[in-house]
Amino acid sequence: MSPCLRFTVIKVTISGASGFVGRNIGKFLEDGGYEIIALSRAKWPKFGRHVITRNLAGKGLERAVVGSSAFLHFIGTGRQTAEEDYESVNVALTRAAISLCKRSGIRKVIYFSGLGADRRSTLGYFISKFRAEQEIISSGLDYTIFRPSYIMGGGDPLSKVLLQQAARGSVTIPGSGRYRLQPIHVLDAARIVSAAIHEKKFSRKIVDLVGPRTVTYAKLVGDLVGRSKIRHADFEKAYHEALVSAKPPFGVDDLSILVGDYLGDHRRLARMSKIEFTGYDDMLKACRLA
Ligand SMILES: NC(=O)c1ccc[n+]([C@@H]2O[C@H](COP(=O)([O-])OP(=O)(O)OC[C@H]3O[C@@H](n4cnc5c(N)ncnc54)[C@H](OP(=O)(O)O)[C@@H]3O)[C@@H](O)[C@H]2O)c1
Repeated sequence: MSPCLRFTVIKVTISGASGFVGRNIGKFLEDGGYEIIALSRAKWPKFGRHVITRNLAGKGLERAVVGSSAFLHFIGTGRQTAEEDYESVNVALTRAAISLCKRSGIRKVIYFSGLGADRRSTLGYFISKFRAEQEIISSGLDYTIFRPSYIMGGGDPLSKVLLQQAARGSVTIPGSGRYRLQPIHVLDAARIVSAAIHEKKFSRKIVDLVGPRTVTYAKLVGDLVGRSKIRHADFEKAYHEALVSAKPPFGVDDLSILVGDYLGDHRRLARMSKIEFTGYDDMLKACRLA
């Protein structure tokens, strides 16, 4: 074969591969010709070479991931239990990811933190995300840390809950619904991650992963399910349900993140990525079709 016909397949490792972000981005990259090592606790994510691991440890793990150009660390939780809290999942498993990268010679980490992670945060979830960011920054590895708003399309948990509630009759909006978000289509997130694997300008950066449109929660819900399906609930009631129900639609921290009105810098992301973002209406259409 002539040398100019040869091409190199880029290998990347994904942790949390069977989660919503992991499976969508993993599938996108595999379709784009990447070789994927998909790490997860049990569920086969339906793409890549699946390696089962708990705590990013286990025999032969280094051998499976060696040669990866980047480690996409998508393990994370937004709800605490007695068994798994923010420290043990969001922070300790980030430390484990860094250790695995160092043991196997992977030089770049791409991490999904959260829009709102900040040194001054007082919310446990964002404190853990901030600490995870600090672990990565001080590791000496190259990194891109993304701080996403709500990632939508491709079966995302937010639109799934809203569409399920709508199918049962109505969707409850906690409080006024005037708090804002900047949803981003999961495939736009995937394109940006793909750029961050290669492009130097993403190196050692923290970047808000936010879509082009800023909308109130009430507008987003109305546009997704139809205004007639909306009913507003007293925030105290929603908070009480989050505290006492076995499976509430929103946990206590989900509510705090929602009303936090966290906004990011879309213009900077657009300038860096140069992608054409999916329009708001097309993103909602993708949510309904998933
Ligand atoms: N989705 C969003 O809109 C959004 C917004 C901001 C930030 N993020 C961040 O993006 C990352 C991915 O989010 P996602 O929406 O894909 O979440 P997800 O669907 O809940 O997936 C999370 C993944 O983490 C894994 N995980 C959780 N606890 C674990 C543990 N103790 N040990 C090993 N693996 C564990 C899960 O593994 P199993 O499949 O085995 O349970 C799952 O694959 C998270 O860090 C999240 O905080 C997401």
